[in-house]
Amino acid sequence: MARFTIPRDIYFGRGSLENLKDIKGKRAIVVVGGSAMQKFGFLDKTVSYLKEAGLEVETFEGVEPDPSVETVKKGAEQMQKFQPDWIVSIGGGSPIDAAKAMWAFYEYPDTKFEDLIIPFNFPELRQKAKFIAIPSTSGTATEVTAFSVITDYEKGIKYPLADFNITPDIAIVDPDIADTMPKTLTAFTGMDALTHAHEAFVSLFSSPFTDPVALQAIKTVFTDLPAAYEGDKDAREALHYAQCLAGIAFSNALLGIVHSLAHKTGAAFSTGHVPHGEANAIYLPYVIKYNAKDARAKTRYAEISKFIGGDGDDEDSLLAQLINKIEYLNTIFEIPKTLKAFGVKEDEFKEKVSAIAINAVADACTGSNPRPIDAANMEKLLNAIYYGTEVDF
Ligand SMILES: NC(=O)c1ccc[n+]([C@@H]2O[C@H](COP(=O)([O-])OP(=O)(O)OC[C@H]3O[C@@H](n4cnc5c(N)ncnc54)[C@H](O)[C@@H]3O)[C@@H](O)[C@H]2O)c1
Ligand SMILES: [Fe+2]
Repeated sequence: MARFTIPRDIYFGRGSLENLKDIKGKRAIVVVGGSAMQKFGFLDKTVSYLKEAGLEVETFEGVEPDPSVETVKKGAEQMQKFQPDWIVSIGGGSPIDAAKAMWAFYEYPDTKFEDLIIPFNFPELRQKAKFIAIPSTSGTATEVTAFSVITDYEKGIKYPLADFNITPDIAIVDPDIADTMPKTLTAFTGMDALTHAHEAFVSLFSSPFTDPVALQAIKTVFTDLPAAYEGDKDAREALHYAQCLAGIAFSNALLGIVHSLAHKTGAAFSTGHVPHGEANAIYLPYVIKYNAKDARAKTRYAEISKFIGGDGDDEDSLLAQLINKIEYLNTIFEIPKTLKAFGVKEDEFKEKVSAIAINAVADACTGSNPRPIDAANMEKLLNAIYYGTEVDF
């Protein structure tokens, strides 16, 4: 028996932010990140549409990229004072994810973070508020997913929280809001979406409900991401919807070890954090090679390759064509091929690799990966990713 859960309403199209004018309720808190949404006027629009709908509005501003447990607790405290019946979050994955976790602490102030990191262990939400998510980046798809990624900076670990309780009630997928993304962010978040769709399609929990949206998302990213990167508005619109489709797929089919690795390397090195989408883009070709040693996974990757126009029927050839296409995207976006080229110092890598491998195996995304992996192989994979060596294990 399986489950497929998505928001009740997904509003999309340029200008669809206006749907906020029709929200019914008393009080809304708007959770937002650094400054982009203020600068481009989308925070003001969000607040004024909600006021037009007759709601009292407060804002929680300044959620940092890769939000911390502390920020989540601060936001939840403000919610406890204000008692909103709508939580509205606009921005990238970071503020929306933070708002999702705030929601749990708002409704259940005695909850412990340790309880929430256990997959599918959330208390029953919607006792006090419902949730609207409005993405400003085209990648994480947190507006439709059951996930929230929160970082424990003391431990240097990103925790993916997972529960269908935090799948938003309403998603507003308005491409106008993503148009302002700079080039690099467009590339990184687009590669995040590409990774979501690949991992969902080969996941042990892929299904007839998730496969079509995963394939469509992959095709659109390959077709439109290069033009979106150059600023083409139609391509950016297509990408904004494609990343949402990828989210519908992975929220229900789950992910794999590209994400396990990205979560556990993201905040691990002193050379600065590895942006989530960039990490995924670097790791994806290596993980495909590792996973393709499993017969079912290999066939699934070949299916993807065929769907996006790959030649012939030979699985090895289709696999190589797919990896080439991913590496080609990485080249045009100037994404390095290895963690060494990214700038992680060799001494630090060697010192930390065993612990990172153990943490990555324990990540919530590992269980749905199509080929099992233990700490020894995870360490080999990390070494291959660091030095750019062959994945022959
Ligand atoms: N919940 C999920 O399902 C899920 C899935 C994948 C990743 N994540 C998490 O999401 C986070 C990354 O989110 P993200 O990639 O969306 O980036 P982000 O939210 O961290 O934002 C990155 C930067 O981009 C700026 N920005 C955002 N939108 C902009 C716009 N339209 N124009 C100009 N600047 C803009 C922000 O101000 C910020 O400085 C990570 O913590 C990652 O682990 C969550
Ligand atoms: Fe991701």
